[in-house]
Amino acid sequence: MLKDVLLAKQKEINERLETLLVSDLSAHQKLFDAMNYSLSAGGKRIRPFLFLLILELWGKDARLYLDIACALECVHTYSLIHDDLPAMDNDDYRRGRPTNHKVFGAGMATMAGDGLLTFAFELLAGEQQIAPALRCELISILAKAAGPEGMVGGQAHDIESEGRTLTLPELQLMDHCKTGCLLTAPVDMALAMTESSEEEKNLLHAFAVHVGLLFQMTDDLLDVNGHLDEMGKMPHQDAADHKSTYVSLLGKERTKALAEEEARHAKEILGRVDRDTSLLTELVDMLLVRTK
Ligand code: IPE
Ligand code: IPE
Ligand code: MG
Ligand code: MG
Ligand code: MG
Repeated sequence: MLKDVLLAKQKEINERLETLLVSDLSAHQKLFDAMNYSLSAGGKRIRPFLFLLILELWGKDARLYLDIACALECVHTYSLIHDDLPAMDNDDYRRGRPTNHKVFGAGMATMAGDGLLTFAFELLAGEQQIAPALRCELISILAKAAGPEGMVGGQAHDIESEGRTLTLPELQLMDHCKTGCLLTAPVDMALAMTESSEEEKNLLHAFAVHVGLLFQMTDDLLDVNGHLDEMGKMPHQDAADHKSTYVSLLGKERTKALAEEEARHAKEILGRVDRDTSLLTELVDMLLVRTK
């Protein structure tokens, strides 16, 4: 069931993404090619999917808000382009293709990331069907999640932690920021657009925090267990970069056990929500056993 819903939503998201980034100015062509290169390379689209799914669970017509879903994917894709840069993780493959900087050079890849980030906020600001106060709230949620106290903060922590051994709470904070915040944002944004109660908003936010940690734990496990063909990115990069990961700190078995614990917490929270959250439960299970 989840698989079918995910596939249908991925198709809608991909079709909309294809239409968004076009420029009439030939002088900007290379930049737009670079942005579209990473955006159109696939990816699981988990963040926009989560946003659309929650809107639907709370009774909204999600098709009306595809541009907001796309804004979330633009911010995520920018984070990946910058994450792969030589000055960051220095990776050669992403989403089954050579990384953006391998094709367009580090300068243009940096600009492609910058372009996607700012374009995301152009999309949000231009959402005329949403009242200005709510639009500001959505912009604020995403800016906070992506910014210095969110993803960017976590990424800065990540490069500073290379070659060091973090404590478990330090690692959790880093991963919550670098990965969790771009998973809480879709949930918080969707719920801000619905008639949900404060209690529901708090529960679903807590759910997404657990999903974020689970997501990075499985990502760290995939770096040691995964395959280029399936993941579209090169495994065994974390150790080569002397990264602080769950696996480097705790080993594979304890990481797996912790990921299962995060999944249990996430599902337990869903059990307290007075809605049919079975698709979200399925999503947690899928993220726990993912191979890409
Ligand atoms: C990878 O994210 C980066 C992390 C936050 C761990 P995804 O695993 O969602 O990557 P795509 O979007 O599917 O390529
Ligand atoms: C990246 O974490 C998190 C981001 C904010 C992009 P990783 O560096 O582990 O992600 P991958 O493994 O390169 O996808
Ligand atoms: Mg990284
Ligand atoms: Mg990386
Ligand atoms: Mg990783």
